[in-house]
Amino acid sequence: MQRATITGTGSAVPDRILTNHDLEKMVDTSDEWVVTRTGIRERHIAGEGEFTSTFATLAAERALQMAGVKADELDLIIVATVTPDFPFPSTACIVQQNLKATKAAAFDISAACSGFLFGLSLADKSIRSGSASKVLVIGTEVLSRIVDWTDRNTCCLFGDGAGAAVVEAGDGTGGILSTHIHSDGSYWELLYQPGCGNRNPATQKTLDDRLVYISMQGNEVFKLAVRAMEEVAHEALDANNLTVADLDLFIPHQANRRIIDAIGKRLGLGSDKVFINLERYGNTSSASIPIALDEANRSGRLKNGDLLMFDAFGGGLTWGSVLLRWQS
Ligand code: UT7
Repeated sequence: MQRATITGTGSAVPDRILTNHDLEKMVDTSDEWVVTRTGIRERHIAGEGEFTSTFATLAAERALQMAGVKADELDLIIVATVTPDFPFPSTACIVQQNLKATKAAAFDISAACSGFLFGLSLADKSIRSGSASKVLVIGTEVLSRIVDWTDRNTCCLFGDGAGAAVVEAGDGTGGILSTHIHSDGSYWELLYQPGCGNRNPATQKTLDDRLVYISMQGNEVFKLAVRAMEEVAHEALDANNLTVADLDLFIPHQANRRIIDAIGKRLGLGSDKVFINLERYGNTSSASIPIALDEANRSGRLKNGDLLMFDAFGGGLTWGSVLLRWQS
């Protein structure tokens, strides 16, 4: 059986930066509140003519270049997003066209902030089964277009960007050890976009009722996130007969500094083993882990043989973990 290995990473974010001080001029908030309650200082916001596929394509090109893989060698393109360019066709098909990845089957998956890990899980299974040998997994969002910029409860939290990973069949010395993914639809109303699907199609009323924007019960999501992310981290370690002490780097979904700190504390992880960059990006949903991975990789933080864990939680509800032995 082949083991799936990440051979290239890439990321891309819009140039435009929106700081907490900029937000102070838009809603009743303060830099102090946002930093204390979330850890976020600034986020990148897409400009005119920039779409979810724009950042996905850029991130993918960088990951392919690092991996030394040509686009037309790809078997699969999996794009995780809740902010696709269009309801259909998939953003993955647009990325396929941009890259000229002519051989690949391309499709989107919707698992909110856990989407990149759900995509990695699919890539891992496809490679292990022998049905694919080169897979591109992308997490990409332009959340700024579904954020209500008059709602201080949500507008301070989110940002735009994309991260990508090339996953290939490896020789088994490193690579993905396990993936664990979960969902609980009984909580779907805690975090969702009420409008623009077919329950509340795009109409003047949908717009007037502000249904086109993200709706979130932050406090409930917070508590469930901490619990689920801790559990799924242990699930991964137990399945591989490993312990927290074996981990070299923990890369969690970047939603809130307090969530990350709470999980780190519950797991007994030293802060030097937890990767955090949300102060510069905010919550980029499915893009947060691959952007963080790419930063860790390009800054030389990852050494061959390091044990890495990705851990995510998001709307659906969905959550999951991926444990891997780094081998570049
Ligand atoms: O991506 C995956 C899923 N998402 C998450 O994981 C997000 C999880 N949730 C969170 O990160 C946090 O719950 C939030 C950051 C969203 C909110 O933090 P909180 O500590 O749970 O605050 P809260 O919602 O309980 O609000 C506390 C107070 C409220 O005022 P009152 O009702 O107590 O008077 C809010 O109106 O803070 C107020 N508030 C703000 N004040 C200034 C909420 N947003 C702001 C703001 N500026 N931006």
